[in-house]
Amino acid sequence: MKYALIGCGRIAENHIKAAIENNLELTAVCDIDEEHMEELLCKFHLEHDTDILRYCDYKEMLFEHPELELCAIATESGLHAQIALDCMESGVNIMIEKPIAMNMEDAEKIIRKSEEHGIVVSVCHQNRFNEAIQAVRRARETGRFGKLSHGAVHVRWFRDEAYYKQAPWRGTWKLDGGCLMNQCIHGIDLLVWLIDAKPVRVYGVTRQRQHPYLEAEDAGMAIVEFENGVIAEIEGTTNIYRDDLEECLLFCGEKGTVKISGTSANRVDYWEFAEGDNTDREIKTLDERTINIYGNGHGRLYADVISAIKEHRQPCVDAKAGRNALEIVLAIYKSQKTGNPVELPLKNFSSEDMETVKLV
Ligand SMILES: NC(=O)c1ccc[n+]([C@@H]2O[C@H](COP(=O)([O-])OP(=O)(O)OC[C@H]3O[C@@H](n4cnc5c(N)ncnc54)[C@H](O)[C@@H]3O)[C@@H](O)[C@H]2O)c1
Repeated sequence: MKYALIGCGRIAENHIKAAIENNLELTAVCDIDEEHMEELLCKFHLEHDTDILRYCDYKEMLFEHPELELCAIATESGLHAQIALDCMESGVNIMIEKPIAMNMEDAEKIIRKSEEHGIVVSVCHQNRFNEAIQAVRRARETGRFGKLSHGAVHVRWFRDEAYYKQAPWRGTWKLDGGCLMNQCIHGIDLLVWLIDAKPVRVYGVTRQRQHPYLEAEDAGMAIVEFENGVIAEIEGTTNIYRDDLEECLLFCGEKGTVKISGTSANRVDYWEFAEGDNTDREIKTLDERTINIYGNGHGRLYADVISAIKEHRQPCVDAKAGRNALEIVLAIYKSQKTGNPVELPLKNFSSEDMETVKLV
């Protein structure tokens, strides 16, 4: 399957690794900065491979290579939607780094276009493929929790000035958002996917306490109400002193409670059910090794997308999943802006609508 990567920055390494693992044909890489392309290829000893085409303009690449079957988009977040729409216009299946877009309208456009053109669109919420998360999903699907009471996600990480100053797009409303949009959105995706009900209302508060050079938030908290009565709590921050502490999730049901922890939801902390299962013993001690905060999921996400393309089915993390996680983040932003709870579905809200808000 002919594959190209657009955006060769920090996360790009995970994409190339996943593409190689999944036997994709690396046809082209694209970045506005030629050095970024070469540095990336160097990491995989591919710098002398002249079969891999290099482009500084993704539109030129799409025009010259209509045979491309899959493109990954790993540019700054504010560019995802336009590049995604252009790829789809050229008939290419896509994997979009999170977040899918920076506003609801763009996310809906991507969903519509993928349906109209029969194009596979996946969003890189790769932690869904963590072993611990897959185990929770199975327990939810088989009804082991009974009636769910509530859930929670805490993404408590550390990002310092050096991280934010790596690139001018970081922490801006237009191109990135803050800790909820960039970091916590992974956990929010997991929370919503595992509660598996329609969210109807969001109460949110955000702050910017320790990174005055950012436009956006570095701490946020929210309560989400779901249509079946379940409530969930969200805490996201990059203000932990001085390391990534945890990304943890809690699901509390009448017949079972589970807590997943580790730095990227990769470890089972608590796993108790009224009715036992022969997999429980193994799951209780599950602690998946990860080499960094991004986890092991990109390769598994790629495998799912490739089979979705071959089998003409939706991928596990489709465009609607990307939209749903984005909706919660934007609803928290809107709630901070208005001082009121926000009813869902959310329409026409953009991270740029926060530009007039002074966070304290
Ligand atoms: N899934 C994850 O766990 C994960 C982790 C980190 C980052 N991300 C996401 O990946 C994206 C990139 O993050 P990063 O940390 O790699 O950023 P980065 O700044 O290191 O990389 C972005 C790259 O995109 C390039 N670029 C900008 N405009 C372009 C264009 N028009 N065409 C082609 N290339 C262009 C830049 O030159 C740069 O090399 C962000 O959306 C971020 O949220 C996801």
